[in-house]
Amino acid sequence: MRKKALILVPIAAVLLAWAQKPAPPPVDEVLPKEPPAQPIPFNHKLHVDKAALKCLDCHPIRDPGFQAGYPREAACMGCHTSIKADSPHIKTLAEHAKARKPLPWAKIYAVPDYVWFSHASHHQDAGIRCETCHGPVAEREVLGKEKPTNMHSCMKCHAQMGASNGCDFCHASQ
Ligand code: HEC
Ligand code: HEC
Ligand code: HEC
Ligand code: HEC
Ligand code: HEC
Repeated sequence: MRKKALILVPIAAVLLAWAQKPAPPPVDEVLPKEPPAQPIPFNHKLHVDKAALKCLDCHPIRDPGFQAGYPREAACMGCHTSIKADSPHIKTLAEHAKARKPLPWAKIYAVPDYVWFSHASHHQDAGIRCETCHGPVAEREVLGKEKPTNMHSCMKCHAQMGASNGCDFCHASQ
């Protein structure tokens, strides 16, 4: 009993703090018009069509499954030690691979730290395709944000697919 209360008190405190903040209004997110600048140009269409790579080859959703993540530069070098090795962009890529220093990709899709989101739950467990939340990435030469990630957009799909929209579903353990 005592042990349970010890756990429940901090959770209740967090929920109370949340309850005092007004939920954001149910409005559609305004998406940026331009893709962000990237350290080197990366072309999804070319790599999916010409190099015949699958989404999960480069975004493996490693345990514990929150993130899809970015590919390791060493994996790119599996091809690029020979393909286009003279290109200035590939030289930049090779330097990062050699130094084991990730390229500083600009993040396009992001939710704040106080939001609980998992790729494993949505893609692997609920079977939702990447395209549903990110648009037709395989057709894009340059990637920008095409789908919203605000609270209203999450809740709209949860309502359609019968997933919970209780506040603590997405905000609980923060
Ligand atoms: C050869 C490796 C490779 C393949 C294959 C690949 N990607 Fe990517 N992806 C990247 C790299 C590198 C970036 C970062 C540069 C960029 O945003 O274009 C990225 C970025 C992304 C982003 C934006 C991430 C962010 O910053 O928020 C999404 C979404 C994405 N990929 C989805 C996909 C989907 C869906 C597929 C399959 C259709 C796919 N990718 C196939 C390498 C790959
Ligand atoms: C399976 C092989 C393969 C892998 C793995 C691969 N690429 Fe490529 N990449 C290619 C091919 C093929 C081209 C097109 C080459 C051409 O235009 O002749 C290319 C072209 C490029 C170019 C354009 C180079 C230029 O200047 O024209 C960049 C940049 C690039 N890749 C980055 C990456 C990055 C970053 C990764 C890892 C996330 C990656 N590639 C992984 C096969 C691959
Ligand atoms: C239900 C919607 C949804 C699905 C399905 C989904 N994503 Fe995401 N994706 C997101 C959200 C939301 C973020 C931002 C997450 C964050 O900031 O923690 C994101 C972020 C990303 C990123 C940026 C790096 C990261 O992990 O935060 C990549 C890359 C990505 N997704 C690729 C994919 C790929 C590839 C698939 C299919 C295998 C996929 N996503 C399926 C919603 C989704
Ligand atoms: C395209 C539809 C869709 C979108 C968009 C979506 N979700 Fe979900 N979400 C689902 C479904 C379906 C489930 C599975 C429900 C279940 O298992 O009962 C789920 C489950 C969850 C879970 C519980 C996961 C678990 O493993 O217990 C959380 C938390 C969650 N979503 C948060 C989010 C957040 C945050 C966003 C927006 C950034 C979001 N979702 C966007 C459909 C969606
Ligand atoms: C399906 C997931 C989901 C559910 C359910 C959910 N939220 Fe959110 N909430 C989010 C996401 C995602 C954001 C971040 C949006 C953004 O990117 O700014 C957010 C942001 C917020 C913010 C911060 C707004 C700001 O601008 O500072 C508050 C407050 C909030 N939610 C309260 C609530 C309350 C109260 C409930 C219950 C009525 C609730 N949320 C239910 C996903 C959810």
